Amino acid sequence: MCGIIGYVGNNNSVPYIIDGLKRLEYRGYDSAGISILQGHELVTVRAVGKVAELEKATLLANPKGNTGIGHTRWATHGKPSEENSHPHTDCTGDIVVVHNGIIENYLTLRDKLESRGHRFKSETDTEVIAHLIEENLLHVRAENDQDRLLKAVQKTNKEIAGAYAYGVLWARTPGLLIGVKNQSPMVVGLGKDENFLASDVPAFLKHTNKVLFLEDGEIALLHVDGVTVLDKDGKEKEVKPVKISWDQQTAEKGGFAHFMLKEIYDQPQAIEDTLRTARADFGKILGLDTTGIRELRNIHIIACGTAYHAGLVGKYYIEQLAGIPVSVDLASEYKYRAIPPLPHTLAVAISQSGETADTIGAIKKAKELGFRTLAICNVLGSTLTRTCDGTFFTHCGPEISVASTKAFTSQITSVYALALFLGKANGNLSQAAFDKAYKGLLALSKAMSEAVKLEYEVRHLTRKIYKADRFIFLGRNVNFPIALEGALKLKEVSYRSAEGFAAGEIKHGPISIIDKGTPVFMIMPHDSLFEKMLSACQECRARGAFVVVITTKNGVKQAKDVADKVITVPQTDDLLQPIIDVVPLQFLAYWIAKRLGCDIDQPRNLAKSVTVE
Ligand code: M6R
Repeated sequence: MCGIIGYVGNNNSVPYIIDGLKRLEYRGYDSAGISILQGHELVTVRAVGKVAELEKATLLANPKGNTGIGHTRWATHGKPSEENSHPHTDCTGDIVVVHNGIIENYLTLRDKLESRGHRFKSETDTEVIAHLIEENLLHVRAENDQDRLLKAVQKTNKEIAGAYAYGVLWARTPGLLIGVKNQSPMVVGLGKDENFLASDVPAFLKHTNKVLFLEDGEIALLHVDGVTVLDKDGKEKEVKPVKISWDQQTAEKGGFAHFMLKEIYDQPQAIEDTLRTARADFGKILGLDTTGIRELRNIHIIACGTAYHAGLVGKYYIEQLAGIPVSVDLASEYKYRAIPPLPHTLAVAISQSGETADTIGAIKKAKELGFRTLAICNVLGSTLTRTCDGTFFTHCGPEISVASTKAFTSQITSVYALALFLGKANGNLSQAAFDKAYKGLLALSKAMSEAVKLEYEVRHLTRKIYKADRFIFLGRNVNFPIALEGALKLKEVSYRSAEGFAAGEIKHGPISIIDKGTPVFMIMPHDSLFEKMLSACQECRARGAFVVVITTKNGVKQAKDVADKVITVPQTDDLLQPIIDVVPLQFLAYWIAKRLGCDIDQPRNLAKSVTVE
């Protein structure tokens, strides 16, 4: 998830672009860049770090021009560095491109272009777009430069695969900015004698609230005096702007009241983005050949907080799909306990930020013990990714809310991809079992889109229970960690007392805290443990609990007999079900905190990234 802003107007574009980038920083902030068309010359300035660094560099270079584009990056391909920052250029330097998304076939395209003599300067997937446009300009015919560029862009779009939104400038067409949208966001702002292209409305909301939301496959041609939109068949489309009534702050959150809520709703897209690399060769990532992978005898998962809960789910995945024993440790504990230095051990650190001191300390210890180390992380270039032998990126985009939601579901999805790879590589999974499991994985994003529709129902439920003193969450097997996560989420944002347990354990002690009216959430999809969960419901109900059952379609009828409320979640493969089951619990935490008037995105005493031990 990166941020794009482009300007065409009668004024110097630089202040518009720098300001727009600052307002898009929530989409990415590891490096930034700007290209300004100064006469027929493109002047590009790029800097590592936040937009403030780019602003300083731009002040020094002092470019001026009425047409320009800018980009704030959240690295997906290639570490955060000046060379990898956008805008990217072709060989001539006359074409610049800013891009948000992932070009899935970039390696194939890059090889092809290199064999035709193109020279690449970065490690990014984006650069192939600039070179492809350069190449295609040689092969298309048109009456003028604008039409030539358009045709080259259309040809390029047929060759690239994946999710992308990009903006292009060509030195030969001053006063023209082209925007393309396919499965990544891109909007156009219509001003008076000035028009804007951006990943999101806040980038230009200060200047205009008249917005065109581009559809997938569409191309926008922006000039100072108007905007033309071509549909996916290349036909000119009637332009119907929407008037946005959001204020600046609301716009940054995509119209949601809080980042936490926005990020819960981001999950279908986040999962889809994670899945783009789900067929990754973990052997290659880790620098292990087939024998090295087959020889793995132990896996240690290390993480903190929510990421630890993702690790707990991962244990079930790896043991079931790959047959390799897994231990899951809180990073702060791993560092200080005696770990036998067994050979053929892989240590996997899971972290959204990649900057959590405990996790980094623990993985360093794993390295000292001679273990191969893998990071499952959301931030390219973070300390963790630089420390480990290899990294699998979760690609869920920046997570701003302190309470982690989309990173969690993307982390679990990533560990599933790892488990599938290991299972296939070591022969624990037959080809048919692998294909079946992979098919289930690909259906996940659709189920997630259904799951986020549960907000209204959960919100309604919270009216009844938000004043309760304590909340209990129970689950078994893959849903036990979801009980822990449901409790953690609620504690973090609402400051209520909440505890998660393995449902089979309550009779060994925790049942004593259940009182009349205590809300107890039972996470119990209709799977092999459903009947046992029904018994746990009866036990809680007998103590006066207010029982809420989260189940799948086939469990609803029986659940109704033992519950005060039943929430039906979409059904997936049993192993993947926790990724969906957590969604109503995320909404629950959000709505209880909201009703209690808590500071949801920045809960008291907490920080997004805990960089001290
Ligand atoms: O950045 P990390 O994933 O390493 O962070 C780990 C925990 O600090 C984090 O998951 C924390 O528990 C969140 N606030 C949970 O919502």
